[in-house]
Amino acid sequence: MGVYAVTGAASGMGKASADRLRAAGHTVIGIDLTEGDVVADLSTTEGRATAIAKTLERAEGHLDGAVLAAGLGPLPGKERVIAEVNFRGVVELLEGWRSTLAASGNSKVVVFGSNSTTTVPAAPMSAVKAFLAGDVEKAVKRASRIKPAGPTFTYAASKLAVTHWVRRTAVTPEWAGAGIRLNVIAPGAIETPLLTSQLDSPEGDRVRDFPVPIGGFGRPEQIGAWVEFMLSPAADFLCGSVIVVDGGTEPFFRGSDW
Ligand code: NAI
Repeated sequence: MGVYAVTGAASGMGKASADRLRAAGHTVIGIDLTEGDVVADLSTTEGRATAIAKTLERAEGHLDGAVLAAGLGPLPGKERVIAEVNFRGVVELLEGWRSTLAASGNSKVVVFGSNSTTTVPAAPMSAVKAFLAGDVEKAVKRASRIKPAGPTFTYAASKLAVTHWVRRTAVTPEWAGAGIRLNVIAPGAIETPLLTSQLDSPEGDRVRDFPVPIGGFGRPEQIGAWVEFMLSPAADFLCGSVIVVDGGTEPFFRGSDW
């Protein structure tokens, strides 16, 4: 049985992933903002440093994998926090855990992206580039220039950037070469507190009217099952992939993109 760090373990898909791993007999180190084995604010440099150190302490030098699920949706007025948690809250933690993940010899990481990376038109590539260059402040400024103004573009850019980071990093000697499999899960609309707050916002009707060919919204347990699979031996040959689980929205818009 393995030892897995899970961010965002207190709610939604992070919790569903942690529950499945625990039910299968694995040890989970849950990290979240106000409750869990490690309490840390991933929107700040200090919080991320705490999350890295406390997790390694609890893991006692052995990590078989990680699930990076902590994140925010497109909340108005929260652009900087969205950028910090969704991008730095993934990249800094993984960089801090890399050598411990490498030491296990065959570790697996699932990062939460989003199908918005394929469905938000005109997601600002200049913001994505700024994220990847480590300049989060500039990324937020670039994303905020797009009209109509709102958090959607910062959110989509943060998820695109983290997805590009995973795909580029996954194949390098420091990661794939060290036996660490980095992959992304890109959910569509899943019934979690994050989705509920979107449905209750002025954006609600747009979310409700978004095309989902299979119908309805997904459930956190369905995503938890994919995460468990992506951490299992069946996924040994999965590296740098993006697994989209969205009821058909992505092929609805991009059926010929392959
Ligand atoms: P959720 O709101 O149920 O859970 C997110 C968790 O992240 C919460 O427990 C929250 O406390 C934690 N978190 C937020 N800010 C934090 C901070 N500063 N420090 C530490 N922890 C923090 O959300 P959900 O829906 O389960 O989202 C999981 C991931 O999936 C997120 O990255 C989200 O962006 C992504 N996603 C969600 C979709 C959806 O429809 N629900 C669709 C596509 C992607």
